[in-house]
Amino acid sequence: MNTSHDLVIVLDFGAQYSQLIARRVRELGVYSQIVPFNTSAEEIRKMAPKGIIFSGGPASVSQEGSPRPDKEVFSLGIPVLGICYGLQVMSLLLGGSVTCPEKKEYGIANISIRGKGELLKDIPDHSQVWMSHGDSVSAIPEGFVTTADTPNCPYTVIENSERKFYGVQFHPEVVHSVDGQKMLSNFVLGICKATADWNMGNFINEQVERIREEVGDGQVLCGLSGGVDSSVAAVLIHRAIGDRLVCVFVNNGMLRKHEAENVLELFGKHFNMRLQYADAEEAFLTALKGKTDPEDKRKTIGKLFVDTFYNEARKCGDITHLAQGTLYPDIVESKSPFGGPTSTIKSHHNVGGLPEDLKWKLLEPLKELFKDEVRELGRELGLPEELVDRHPFPGPGLGVRCIGEVTKERLDTLRDVDAIFIEEIRKAGLYGEIWQALADLLPVKSVGVQGDERTYREVCTLRAVTSQDAMTADWYRMPYDVMQRCASRICNEVKGVNRVLYDITSKPPGTIEWE
Ligand code: XMP
Repeated sequence: MNTSHDLVIVLDFGAQYSQLIARRVRELGVYSQIVPFNTSAEEIRKMAPKGIIFSGGPASVSQEGSPRPDKEVFSLGIPVLGICYGLQVMSLLLGGSVTCPEKKEYGIANISIRGKGELLKDIPDHSQVWMSHGDSVSAIPEGFVTTADTPNCPYTVIENSERKFYGVQFHPEVVHSVDGQKMLSNFVLGICKATADWNMGNFINEQVERIREEVGDGQVLCGLSGGVDSSVAAVLIHRAIGDRLVCVFVNNGMLRKHEAENVLELFGKHFNMRLQYADAEEAFLTALKGKTDPEDKRKTIGKLFVDTFYNEARKCGDITHLAQGTLYPDIVESKSPFGGPTSTIKSHHNVGGLPEDLKWKLLEPLKELFKDEVRELGRELGLPEELVDRHPFPGPGLGVRCIGEVTKERLDTLRDVDAIFIEEIRKAGLYGEIWQALADLLPVKSVGVQGDERTYREVCTLRAVTSQDAMTADWYRMPYDVMQRCASRICNEVKGVNRVLYDITSKPPGTIEWE
């Protein structure tokens, strides 16, 4: 795939951080791709990388069956950087030894530089790094020297500058390793002499080629939700194969204000894509009638979505591939320990398992990327900023924010509340620093006085959180004046609501969504 740009490959030994390494290299302007640890030296030679990085991994080199690279990679004349497990396996294969000391080392450590090698060029004499290892190198292979250590780890950084082999016991790719990016830069740009001319524009061209190759003369189906990931995936695939992409967009009646029109306008009219639109609002509302239990509601919405989606799909002719906007963080959890990343259909997209009669291959053009890289890609592809920077929105939509029974009337009320909340946050310039902002309508009424009139109307809550990955979240300290404007506009402009609360629960103990 990488024909015109320098490439650095990451041999994946099953580390949690493999993609992060690739991403850090891409940040240096050099294309980087992950390959399984057992990729043969011959295949690697054909890829012609400027450098090879061995990732870390959960195994111990002393464990039977623990992953090993093809030993011939050391004869390719290509520089190698081993990180953590990668350092250990390299040391072992080149004649050093590795032990499992009683004291394991996790967390922050400080390295002391013992000799200025190429990898540590321009790094201060003492530098903070992030350690996470059980095994340690106990004797380095012939031809290597130690260039840095820590009190617990005598061989923290080693190198053989003649053969251009380097190893670090810590993780330079994580932010806690203060000079980590400089070390990666020393390796990629200094030692490997890779040219820094890669960017997202190149990624598009390369992916377009790759998608064309993968799809051949087949047809791709993509479920469009209006969210960032599926939108970016759809536009990218459309660029590659045009009308051989067909998108299915299900309106479950629980979308945000004007969402359906916006999706149809943007993808149908502006991007001129083949769009199969299923307006299933009535069916969803009927199925949800009388239901108040959160799990029951979720299951009902999920099942009906799957049925609706596949019914639409069956109208689209011969489909060979199902596109998914799976991102790298989505597949981390389903990674096999030694075999490189494996992915399954993104379950929270609610597409569920494929029905028996539909034998499609998966197409996941974003699976190497992190969320912010996907946003950048979206911008590069010409998607509007309001879509590219969007907060996450759950598959069951406002259905899980309309607490209690879901009715058209309550959904319309919630849509209005939500629109005002988001508009005010955007106007205040706060949207970007918030992970997610959401409004919920409670099944509670309260007494109010509006004008001269006594009212008895519904209560809504506003919630905004900051988070890295939605696993944990902190409530957002919303400025009082923004809260005040939201509350005042909501009570004035939304007919059914006379009271506004602000949710100050973090996660845990609360979840981000209320149901
Ligand atoms: P919770 O509420 O579990 O949510 O703290 C964590 C993140 O996941 C989103 N979420 C969903 N996303 N389908 C989705 O695509 C779903 O069914 C779903 N439920 C929760 C939620 O909005 C938050 O970002």
